[in-house]
Amino acid sequence: MAWWIFGLVIFSLWSLCASEKCSNRWIHIRNLPSSFNLDLLANCSEYPLLDDLCPYTANHGLGQKTHNRSHSWYRTDPSMLELIFHRRMLEYPCLTQDPSHANAIYLPYYAGLDALRYLYGPESNSSAQHGLNLFHFLQHDNPSIWARHMGHDHFLVMARPAWDFSQPLSNDPPNWGTSFLELPQFFNLTALTLEARACPWQEHAVPYPTSFHPPTLGLLDSWIQRVQRSKRHVLALFAGGGGVSASPNIRRSIRTECDNTTADSSGYDKLCEIVDCSNGICEHDPIRFMRPMLQAIFCLQPPGDIPTRRSTFDGILAGCIPVFFEELSARSQYGWHLPEAEFEAFSVFIPKEEVVFKGLKILDVLQRIPRSRVRKMREKVLELIPNVVYGKHNSSPGLRTKKDAFDLAIDGTLDKIQSRLQELDFVM
Ligand SMILES: *[C@@H]1O[C@H](CO)[C@@H](O)[C@H](O)[C@H]1NC(C)=O
Ligand SMILES: *[C@@H]1O[C@H](CO)[C@@H](O)[C@H](O)[C@H]1NC(C)=O
Ligand SMILES: *[C@@H]1O[C@H](CO)[C@@H](O)[C@H](O)[C@H]1NC(C)=O
Ligand SMILES: *[C@@H]1O[C@H](CO)[C@@H](O)[C@H](O)[C@H]1NC(C)=O
Ligand SMILES: *[C@@H]1O[C@H](CO)[C@@H](O)[C@H](O)[C@H]1NC(C)=O
Repeated sequence: MAWWIFGLVIFSLWSLCASEKCSNRWIHIRNLPSSFNLDLLANCSEYPLLDDLCPYTANHGLGQKTHNRSHSWYRTDPSMLELIFHRRMLEYPCLTQDPSHANAIYLPYYAGLDALRYLYGPESNSSAQHGLNLFHFLQHDNPSIWARHMGHDHFLVMARPAWDFSQPLSNDPPNWGTSFLELPQFFNLTALTLEARACPWQEHAVPYPTSFHPPTLGLLDSWIQRVQRSKRHVLALFAGGGGVSASPNIRRSIRTECDNTTADSSGYDKLCEIVDCSNGICEHDPIRFMRPMLQAIFCLQPPGDIPTRRSTFDGILAGCIPVFFEELSARSQYGWHLPEAEFEAFSVFIPKEEVVFKGLKILDVLQRIPRSRVRKMREKVLELIPNVVYGKHNSSPGLRTKKDAFDLAIDGTLDKIQSRLQELDFVM
């Protein structure tokens, strides 16, 4: 066989493979002016009410390494998921230049960063304007891309809770949040948020990024082994702040119960431990909470101002079994990453009302769970670790064979868009 025929055969096999692997999975990245993404980073230190966000934009949104010699650990701020996602999207294997060939259109718009000028900046009185310039652009530059499916195939990342984008347009004077998700212009697109509303429409929740972004499968596996081997001599851990006011709430109940336990006869060093993360001191300092989480069996994940928390994912990463007090904290949110039907297999649910108003003791509930069941739950948590990790961009081919939080978000988005388009076909 002539070499060129051989080459042709290999090439056709390869393209057959690619087109098979990519069938129904083609994504087109919409070309947006930099005012919708990179330019927004220039104002990262302009918000007096916020930390200086500039250091967190480093490494395509992973932030700075925790130590110079660290390969996988960064000071990651969850609001940078828009950058992290954009960078990963650039190496997505089924990209197409041709929008008419795409199953979905990704908008690389840093919606949450753009929202800062309404949320914390000088434009708080015009929060109903958020997104209108994007819509204007989509209508005027290559309008056929939007028009083909009336926006139903478009998606973007909004790295904040949906609550921050869903202020009713009728609110006057304006209250907290922009109205991006309330604008009829955007009813059809899919938004990936860190938390969805109780009755989500456009949005679907994806995991908060943790600080762990391994570049290779070896580093992911050795972390999982470390988690597996870790000696756990604390029954329950709460890493967080709040709960210090006099009004009854779940964080306060946790503090009271935890402060009031002494060493016991059950074989643990401590029944309960609190890592004080008040005033945001833990946010960019993962060592403060990862070490204690590695030594705890259960991690308490109470709601605060909002039902979800990043800590849920830090805890899973540490192999610490999550204890939830509200369905909205995770079960009804992260179905693409934490399978809803298996929730009992890897987490504990204790309704917060039982604790706050009826005196149910969290530690009693946890102590009554047989050790064999605890072991099974932890095995399940360990299986979930890859699902909640956003791997580093430009990672090794080995790591790319394993689906991470980014890959699962893409799978979920493509499915959601496909079923939306099918419903529309059916209607039209
Ligand atoms: C950055 O902030 C300045 C001053 O508030 C403002 O004029 C400018 O429009 C902002 N840039 C972006 C891209 O938001
Ligand atoms: C880390 O590396 C940077 C640049 O290579 C250097 O400037 C800095 O001093 C190093 N920090 C430590 C703690 O070694
Ligand atoms: C927003 O409007 C209120 C009431 O009209 C006004 O008091 C406030 O100064 C305005 N805020 C800004 C940032 O312009
Ligand atoms: C959203 O989709 C509906 C049909 O499902 C269509 O009537 C409407 O015009 C679309 N909205 C936009 C802004 O394209
Ligand atoms: C600690 O527990 C005891 C016994 O349940 C109770 O009487 C006491 O009020 C508790 N103390 C605090 C500070 O909650």
